[in-house]
Amino acid sequence: MIKDLWYKNAVVYCLSVGTYMDANGDGVGDFSGLMRRLDYINGLGVSAIWLMPFQASPGRDNGYDISDYYSVNPAYGTLGDFVEFTHAAKQRGIRVLIDLVVNHTSNEHAWFKEARRDPKSKYRDWYVWSKKKPANADKGMVFPGVQKSTWTHDPVAKEYYFHRFYDFQPDLNTSNPEVQAEILRIMGFWIQLGVSGFRMDAVPFVISTKGAEVNKPREQYGMLRDFREFLQWRVGDSMILAEANVLPNTDMQYFGDDGDRMHMMFNFQVNQNLFYALAAADTKPLVKAMEKTKPRPPSGQWGMFLRNHDELDLGRLTEKQRKKVFAAFGPNKEDQLYDRGIRRRLAPMLGGDRRRIELAYSLMFTLPGTPVLRYGDELGMGDDLSLPERECCRTPMQWSTEPHGGFTKSDKPVMPVIDRGPYGYEHVNAAFQRRDPNSMLNWIERIIRMRKEVPEVGWGDFEVIKAGNDAVLALRYDWRNNSVLFLHNFAGEPIEVEFKTGLGDERDDKLVDLLGDAHSNAQTNGKHCVCLEAYGYRWYRVGGLDYLLNRSDV
Ligand code: GLC
Repeated sequence: MIKDLWYKNAVVYCLSVGTYMDANGDGVGDFSGLMRRLDYINGLGVSAIWLMPFQASPGRDNGYDISDYYSVNPAYGTLGDFVEFTHAAKQRGIRVLIDLVVNHTSNEHAWFKEARRDPKSKYRDWYVWSKKKPANADKGMVFPGVQKSTWTHDPVAKEYYFHRFYDFQPDLNTSNPEVQAEILRIMGFWIQLGVSGFRMDAVPFVISTKGAEVNKPREQYGMLRDFREFLQWRVGDSMILAEANVLPNTDMQYFGDDGDRMHMMFNFQVNQNLFYALAAADTKPLVKAMEKTKPRPPSGQWGMFLRNHDELDLGRLTEKQRKKVFAAFGPNKEDQLYDRGIRRRLAPMLGGDRRRIELAYSLMFTLPGTPVLRYGDELGMGDDLSLPERECCRTPMQWSTEPHGGFTKSDKPVMPVIDRGPYGYEHVNAAFQRRDPNSMLNWIERIIRMRKEVPEVGWGDFEVIKAGNDAVLALRYDWRNNSVLFLHNFAGEPIEVEFKTGLGDERDDKLVDLLGDAHSNAQTNGKHCVCLEAYGYRWYRVGGLDYLLNRSDV
């Protein structure tokens, strides 16, 4: 059954175990703490949790430098705790996705140690070496400014090794069949322990040809099919969500024309243009990005997000557009990163303006795809710009007004909890917000509940409706004879829009407001006329709720 593709219409919540909840009081979040918070997560109504890397790691890149793929970082617990956690999640109907970071290992991984030490070791060829410094060694850095080169000399091996990211993250030679087999083994291990799939890190680099002699790297897309087939044979309903910030004309290479490669991809194109729309009250480029990324196989899906644990990358916007976004959301040098992005959390970027934050989330939940929420954003958490680089938006979860926001009983939290200013834990915390019916937290819970009642977004096709004003995005989704329609006003002033729903039958006459009482009946000219408040949004079911009763999908 097509409906078994659970990820097509799901809500994902991502978190980092180390900064979520510390149960044993050592200052570091752990699986026991996370387990105690599962009912909180369940209360949000999400379908899946995506865990950032939690395996053994020296922790020099937030865990994206793994030193043992088959382990749990002892600071977070044991493999036993992990299995307890996946089981407890399953009992609540929540799936678990985990990061799969296999483009590179930590330089402290035993494979790399062995590879450096012994040129005859089989592990030597698991990495990418060069006797001389390659001519292009100062090209292709992911972290320009912080990272000086992509090739670094290793004094033990007496050769240069390739690293797309930091120098402590040597790239695996993913063209080596033994490395490919090991990647499958890693997937097989975690799938056996109860996860439902993977967020695959840095996919374009994983499948790229690598080497000193490679001037024009080529993507080996066939590898994606191998990953998928393996996974699907092991556990039929598992999936891979690819982190691939690529141009829209290669998207289908990642999904596969027959839907035989990645199940999901993050939609970076829409993400960047969405922030432009928020900054400039101009939805034209966003609509273009949505149209460009419309093609996807029936079994494929987009992951829609606002912010993540990295910087907000604006590299795909034009110079002019980027300037506008910087001016609106990250005007100071300290807000920016690598000249192309903003490192802030969502709420402070939007000046803490609840209307704009709701607009942004309402939009994320109604864009064509599966929404991916980041821990703390449900409270409107802030950032700590005194922390270096991307660390500023990775501070611990703020649970209560207890010391360190209730995150830990230790006096030495792994990361400082935000404790001053309007985003300090005394003002922004889950305990307060749980009690306040108008809080951000309760708003997010309601919007997730409603998102689940509009499966048309996950399953259907969208159409952009002409509403006569570029500051307003009007979208209609159709699926199995049901339609929903969404309006979003990106402008800071009220706008009246007139539009036709465009179905062409009697359903057009009635729009039922799903979030309030502002229903709409068509005028005699067949058009609806709606006045949206500044940053206002509406969710409608087209044709009235009766149509819901005729749904064929239940
Ligand atoms: C991905 C992660 C990022 C990490 C990098 C290297 O881009 O999102 O946080 O630094 O991969 O693994």
